[in-house]
Amino acid sequence: SRAPLVIAVDGPAASGKGTVARALAAHFDLPHLDTGLLYRGVALALLRWGGDPDSEFAALRAAQELNLDSGDPELRSEMVGGIASRISAYPAVRSALLERQQAFAGQPGGAVLDGRDIGTVIAPDARVKLFVTASAEVRAERRLAELEKRGLPAHLPDVLLDIRARDERDSHRAAAPLRQAEDAILLDTSELDIAAAKARAIQLAEAALV
Ligand code: CDP
Ligand code: CDP
Repeated sequence: SRAPLVIAVDGPAASGKGTVARALAAHFDLPHLDTGLLYRGVALALLRWGGDPDSEFAALRAAQELNLDSGDPELRSEMVGGIASRISAYPAVRSALLERQQAFAGQPGGAVLDGRDIGTVIAPDARVKLFVTASAEVRAERRLAELEKRGLPAHLPDVLLDIRARDERDSHRAAAPLRQAEDAILLDTSELDIAAAKARAIQLAEAALV
């Protein structure tokens, strides 16, 4: 009788953590939660309602009333990602979103969650923890390709600046900063294509479970 399989996947923007988390969920037949969508949902609600992202109180209200439609394409915009990164620094917003993430992680059959603080805060007892990373340049190129695919052409230098700004904010905030948990396995996808990154993640997880 072993504990349910909970897999924590953390890493910076466009590192490939979502790709890897979905592959692990499919491989182990587990439900998957992209926790970035929760912060994006709060940011989008705030934008639509005209709330001030510089107000922790306004952001907290948006978090408390969050009614996430994960299919909303606006959730994926860079604008929403940037505001998500700002409001995610507020401790009140983080604690308002804590319970639903921990409930997801606590499902009896196990779960895969990806984000910034899954292995450190949300599920510190996860049986497998991966920290997915890639160079900022590679991540900027991936993000650029995604934007182009969505018909939103951008310039690489701007995207790179945005990625670096987000890295800086996410890793230097006081509340649950982005960092590799001590017991997390590092997976650098800089030189791995999607298929190789997925295969490597599955191999690392299988090995960690032996
Ligand atoms: O995929 P990408 O990194 O662009 O963004 P995301 O994972 O959707 O997360 C958007 C923002 O939410 C990040 O920049 C983080 O600041 C924040 N976030 C967080 O603080 N904690 C999490 N567990 C997930 C996301
Ligand atoms: O979740 P996160 O923002 O960390 O990254 P993602 O959404 O999994 O990946 C960002 C983009 O990079 C997606 O378009 C992926 O298809 C792509 N990708 C890649 O080109 N090579 C990899 N090894 C992993 C992801």
